[in-house]
Amino acid sequence: MTCGINRIRCCAHSLFDTTMPESQATDPQAPLLTDRFGRVINYLRLSVTDRCDFRCVYCMAEEMTFLPRQQLLTLEELAFLCRAFVELGVSRIRLTGGEPLVRRNVLSLIRSIGELPGLDELLLTSNGSQLADVADELADAGVRRINISLDSINPARFAEITRTGELHRVLKGISAAQRAGIERVKINSVIMRGRNDDEILPLLEFALERQLDISFIEEMPLGDTGRDERREELVSSEEIRQHIGEYYPLLASDAASPGPSRYHRIEGSDSRIGFISPNSHNFCDSCNRVRVTCEGRLLLCLGNEHSVDLRAVLRSHPGDLDALKQAIVAAMDIKPERHHFYDPEQPQVVRFMNTTGG
Ligand code: 5AD
Ligand code: SF4
Repeated sequence: MTCGINRIRCCAHSLFDTTMPESQATDPQAPLLTDRFGRVINYLRLSVTDRCDFRCVYCMAEEMTFLPRQQLLTLEELAFLCRAFVELGVSRIRLTGGEPLVRRNVLSLIRSIGELPGLDELLLTSNGSQLADVADELADAGVRRINISLDSINPARFAEITRTGELHRVLKGISAAQRAGIERVKINSVIMRGRNDDEILPLLEFALERQLDISFIEEMPLGDTGRDERREELVSSEEIRQHIGEYYPLLASDAASPGPSRYHRIEGSDSRIGFISPNSHNFCDSCNRVRVTCEGRLLLCLGNEHSVDLRAVLRSHPGDLDALKQAIVAAMDIKPERHHFYDPEQPQVVRFMNTTGG
């Protein structure tokens, strides 16, 4: 059966045929969300909107057509989905977008997710543009950690990379988040050769001065952003690490990382310094996450198209938590072993980051 959304293996319809993945059948004590490779899934990244007030060059094309509203999950559907995942053992949820804070009434969703029993961590990825207005409410709702995209601390350069963003608003947002008592505020910086690779140290020093964490991210080839040069602009994590190492000795940090970032620190500072290398495969073995797009497509891997249409389940069985949970459990059996970003043998990922969620 095909539903048109997923080219590789379609939707929950076919997945209902299997009541339980093998891992569950053999060991009733196994965590509910375990894939064929024994990886336990306890982390959900949920995109709550594809819309954003920025148009970052590595994420979007200049002219974007956003999804019709009826294709997006409603706030109620998003909350219901989170409940299903948490009941299945997910203990950490990160809300992403697009820009989550541009979605109307998103705070009510965040509050209801924050109240789910069994959820240990509610995290947010934001571009920071609206953060100054809502930081206190986010902290009250239980958000403990926020990742904020910041690829330049030069206002003109920032405007160039984000196309529509204003640096001063994001800086205000960062300060507001810290003042509101968000425990860890992290900057995400995508480094591109010839665009901002001369800002590696300024961004690092900005983070150190303000007691922020920082992750340097390699650009991922997601969606057709109209930038043919992105392969040439790729700056590897190794190169960034070496560059920093010439000025600041990097020490291994014992901070446990929930994600693909490997943390370091610098003597005398509490800031964690991470390097995210999506173009290498070194984190696939310990992958503990799945994503749900703003349309309700459960993506089993950022670098593959394997997915399940949870919106179809939500809308054909409204209010049926068991049907939803069953579809999620069954989906674990199609989680791919690894991603194939620059593999010529594999189809390229055509999704944009803004529908997928970072
Ligand atoms: N490659 C790498 N990082 C990206 N982000 C968005 N698109 C890409 C891409 N193509 C980053 C944003 C944000 C994080 C969630 O993902 O900078 O900080
Ligand atoms: Fe918006 Fe984030 Fe994409 Fe930039 S990277 S356009 S801030 S969703």
